[in-house]
Amino acid sequence: MLSQCKHEPTLRLTAADSAICFERDILPIFVSSCAKSGCHDATTAHHGVRLNDWQGIIAAGVKPGKPEKSEVYEEIEEEMGGPKYGNLNADQKLLIKKWIMLGAKNDTNCPTDCDSAQFKYSTTIKPLIDKYCIGCHAYPNASGSIELSSHAGVVAATAGGKLLNSLKATTNWMPKGGNRLSDCQIKQFEKWINAGTPND
Ligand code: HEC
Repeated sequence: MLSQCKHEPTLRLTAADSAICFERDILPIFVSSCAKSGCHDATTAHHGVRLNDWQGIIAAGVKPGKPEKSEVYEEIEEEMGGPKYGNLNADQKLLIKKWIMLGAKNDTNCPTDCDSAQFKYSTTIKPLIDKYCIGCHAYPNASGSIELSSHAGVVAATAGGKLLNSLKATTNWMPKGGNRLSDCQIKQFEKWINAGTPND
């Protein structure tokens, strides 16, 4: 009998997936795309849902090992991941799914492969912004009127040292509500800015 049911192909985890680390790979996605002011930051906690740390994400409905039974993941798959809200891309959704399949653990102090000698816009700066900032700083809802979705926008935000100061600040740093970027990542921004913010 042919089934009319459309099943998603079973996702197989690979050895490389076991390196997925909550604090480094998963939390920044939630901070930038969900834990915004007016949405799921600690202050607003819309519908009682707070997505700015592991405890909040788990409490919002994560069943370790079972993404399809996890309310948070269902929401991401449905509208919350869509253009009206966080606009998570397919890679980000897949990463979150795998993290839940792997047990949704609260991994911290994740190893990084940051190399402060690397600071090209296309291969270092833009990927950092896409991961840590863009959820809050893209048209039409660019926080603080800082629009970081194009090279020109990022360059404009560096005027007067604004962007670098926002990363280096010891209170209320950017990404807002998230962990500070590592010293190495901040160094990458600094070197790119000192090099004249090239679109390289
Ligand atoms: C969760 C949302 C959020 C994330 C993520 C975020 N920002 Fe912001 N950002 C804001 C808000 C809101 C403001 C407006 C000022 C305020 O409320 O602190 C702001 C303001 C700024 C400003 C202006 C500061 C000033 O002095 O006027 C800069 C620059 C900035 N952000 C850069 C960044 C960068 C770079 C990242 C990523 C590393 C980032 N932001 C991530 C929400 C966010």
